[in-house]
Amino acid sequence: MNSKLDIDLTDSFEKIPVKIFPTPKEGSAFVANEIARLIREKQAKGEDCILGLATGSTPISMYAELVRLHKEEGLSFKNVITFNLDEYYPLEREAFQSYWSFMHRHLFNQVDIDPSNIHIPNGELPKDEVKKHCQKYEQMIEALGGIDLQVLGIGGNGHIGFNEPGSSIFSKTRITSLDNSTRIANSYEYQNISQVPRMAITMGISTIMKAKKILLMAWGKKASIIARSVEGHVTEHIPASILQQHNDCLFVIDETAATDLTRIKSPWLTGECEWTPQMIKRAVVNMSLKLQKPVLSLTTHDYNESGLSDLLVEKGDAYEINLQVYYMLRDGITGWPGGKPNAVIPQHPERSSPYPKKSLIFSPHPDDDIISMGGTFMRLHDQGHEVHVAYQTSGNIAVTDEFVTRFLDFAVGFEDMFGIDNKTSQQILNDARKFLATKKTNDRDTSAIRAIKGLIRRCEAKATCRYVGLTDDKAHFQNLPFYETGTIEKKPMGEEDVQLTIELLRRLQPQQIFCAGDLADPHGTHKVCLDIIFESIRRIKADGDEWINDCYVWMYKGAWQEWDIAEIEMAIPMSPDQAMKKRFGIFIHQSQKDMVPFQGSDSREFWQRAEERNSNTANLYAALGLTKYAAMEAFVRWHF
Ligand code: F6R
Repeated sequence: MNSKLDIDLTDSFEKIPVKIFPTPKEGSAFVANEIARLIREKQAKGEDCILGLATGSTPISMYAELVRLHKEEGLSFKNVITFNLDEYYPLEREAFQSYWSFMHRHLFNQVDIDPSNIHIPNGELPKDEVKKHCQKYEQMIEALGGIDLQVLGIGGNGHIGFNEPGSSIFSKTRITSLDNSTRIANSYEYQNISQVPRMAITMGISTIMKAKKILLMAWGKKASIIARSVEGHVTEHIPASILQQHNDCLFVIDETAATDLTRIKSPWLTGECEWTPQMIKRAVVNMSLKLQKPVLSLTTHDYNESGLSDLLVEKGDAYEINLQVYYMLRDGITGWPGGKPNAVIPQHPERSSPYPKKSLIFSPHPDDDIISMGGTFMRLHDQGHEVHVAYQTSGNIAVTDEFVTRFLDFAVGFEDMFGIDNKTSQQILNDARKFLATKKTNDRDTSAIRAIKGLIRRCEAKATCRYVGLTDDKAHFQNLPFYETGTIEKKPMGEEDVQLTIELLRRLQPQQIFCAGDLADPHGTHKVCLDIIFESIRRIKADGDEWINDCYVWMYKGAWQEWDIAEIEMAIPMSPDQAMKKRFGIFIHQSQKDMVPFQGSDSREFWQRAEERNSNTANLYAALGLTKYAAMEAFVRWHF
């Protein structure tokens, strides 16, 4: 294909310009710089800069960068007038979850903006005043000459602002009801779903479309909706697709959010691509799943029909390619996650020696080890390896208050039963009861209660280790400080977190590390935990420690998703009995069963998610024409 054609084809897939950055941090810096440039340009002309702003998890690092530009590079917000997209309704302004609080926390309190220039829909008004308030909001924007630059995030259902699917292209600022999927998605900010408001005041689609320039950001797990908004038809069912009709709109996304775009997912369709073994695997696996045909049954006709004639030209016979991919898939499947001792299998994902190995599993929360890689965990131990688990955080915010009094009651009763002085525990119980009786949704727990919640989870983790067969000295509780805020918003990775991890790694010197590879999670605990491990390993390597060069790092996916089937480098099958044993291992985490605070957008219990995910992986391998197992856990290697 010639390069002109490449461009045309890419264009025909993407109907909105898209800029892809390696990480959310780099994308955020780009958007912050665009905003800063506009503010300065307007300043130079003596004009106001009218910004439309968004909330949610997406823009947090962009606001952090604006604050940095203000503090370190003298960016002033004196000429800035802001209009926020939306606010929950009804909700008091001062509530932690209000967008008013969000904006002040992340931006306004930290820059020199004039408070009278800040506009956020008012979620406190009586209902009969809301309509007028909305009309005034529109008029204010118009009176100032319209929004110069509108920042947007995107909901998993394609909403922009709180314009849910079905919102009219002509909609203006108004009160609207939230889609259930949005309430579930945003429930991570609340103790549980029932507390998420059912309504919101939002700018309309026409309000947004009138902005002179639009920058929409998306990171991580938004890949599917990004592809549908950018490449699909314009439809009110996907509000973001309407942005195709704006003449100055740019999507700024990270690599993970880009994974479903044709140019990334099937680059052979948009132009020439380099046929690396990994790319061939991806193309063939995608084709096989799409055509519902096992890899070894794919024909030359299938290749041509799937836009893969280029591959045939370069690599020859379809059957040869099928075999190459089939072997790649087959060689990644192994019942020996620590390597098969005394065997020479060059294509095996792990080395046969040394045997036994010292394997270190990093578990961001006290149950990720068993949920995400319980089968592998048990196998490693059963196959004679020395398995250690590092529990990175205490996980204390995800324990209900009821558990605290239940366990304290036990402590008091236990001491009483054995004639131990229980005045102190009684006092702690009384204090906890008193505090919890008047605790409001957003109150931070006392440090005693947080410690007890951490202890409850620690005991569950220890019980799981014992269930697998580990002795107590193999469980390491790191209690990393970045997590200990007592709220769902965590601190970023800090030096102490890295030092604690380096110290543990140097002490154990493992030959294998397993960690939660949630590469895309923009501000979640798993991503910070992973960054801490990566940073620690990089430093150990830079310091010249020999042992690290003989260490393989395997990433499992955290609680919800699984690796794309074509990416998997090691798949560990489980028998039905092993899957059942894993289920009982997950059950040990009683504090995480049924009602879990901050459960997020998936109402299934953890064991259900794990089982569905593991059997789904096994089914996909079977669909590709490999042996059908009951369940499989999957890993990708990190090369450092
Ligand atoms: C926020 C807003 C919403 C969010 C969207 C994505 O002001 O209007 O449209 O941008 O729900 O939310 P996050 O960024 O939390 O994924």
